[in-house]
Amino acid sequence: MDDFSGKTAVITGAASGIGLELAKQFGAAGMNLMLADVERPALDRAEAELREAGYPVSAREIDVRDHDQIIDLDHAARDRFGNVHVLCNNAGVGAGGPVADPDNLEAWRWTIDINLWGVIYGCKVFLPGMIEHGEQCHIVNTASMAGLGSAPMMGPYNISKYGVVALSETLSKEMQIMQTAVGVSVLCPAFVATGIANSDRNMPDDVRATLPKRAASSGMQAQIEAMVAGGINTEVVGQHVLDAVRNDRFWILTHDESKASVTARANDIVNSVNPSMRAGFA
Ligand SMILES: NC(=O)c1ccc[n+]([C@@H]2O[C@H](COP(=O)([O-])OP(=O)(O)OC[C@H]3O[C@@H](n4cnc5c(N)ncnc54)[C@H](O)[C@@H]3O)[C@@H](O)[C@H]2O)c1
Repeated sequence: MDDFSGKTAVITGAASGIGLELAKQFGAAGMNLMLADVERPALDRAEAELREAGYPVSAREIDVRDHDQIIDLDHAARDRFGNVHVLCNNAGVGAGGPVADPDNLEAWRWTIDINLWGVIYGCKVFLPGMIEHGEQCHIVNTASMAGLGSAPMMGPYNISKYGVVALSETLSKEMQIMQTAVGVSVLCPAFVATGIANSDRNMPDDVRATLPKRAASSGMQAQIEAMVAGGINTEVVGQHVLDAVRNDRFWILTHDESKASVTARANDIVNSVNPSMRAGFA
């Protein structure tokens, strides 16, 4: 898809981090912007900032766990701007906890509902319209390097991101078989400096109430915050994404230094080597 001007992008998780950056870069490329996020104050700020920058923008408060709200988002985008050309299924949260802990089930469910079901709903709701209008368009699903390797203590996050990778690969092949004008990419960054380490700001109270006390895991939380803060900036990620959409590139791996972990894991699989701890996501 090489012509963005006057076309429309829908971005979930657009109020902050990678989603906000994607909105800025697609806006600068001439696109209409439909922003969606669960965090109202941040969404209002993002909408105001993008409007101030001169981009045609609309915003909708939604929870991507809710299929009906994604259907409403599709209607709102089409009512306001007409055909949708770029869909970024980007909203996500980082939450974890050991597999052996029987008490973090609700946090696992919350993570998988947002990170995986949110993306599944986005694809299923928007695709019929994108296929039908027949103009060049593109879906970008945000996964992670955690979708290409399984770091410990990140079970629900890993599961959700592997799911997003599998969904995206499947979709890409189906779009080729069906000969549609819909391109597909999957975004797999390692650490990016965003608000992801504080995802629990959006955690519903009933889910939070089921969690073990934060103090018990605060050391690990501090480590995660430091790794995220030391990540690359969102601008670089946005440039990778726009380049992939322009050139119809499926895999978007933003960290060259992480690629070796993918090769190492693939070698382990074909050589029947058991999983072990090593640097990187694999
Ligand atoms: N930051 C990283 O290191 C990193 C690395 C790999 C992948 N990712 C992925 O990038 C995506 C964006 O995250 P980010 O790093 O910009 O973090 P972020 O916290 O800055 O942004 C995530 C956005 O998603 C929104 N959101 C959360 N739950 C939602 C819900 N139920 N419905 C709608 N919106 C919701 C949040 O309000 C927030 O605006 C996520 O899918 C994340 O898993 C991030």
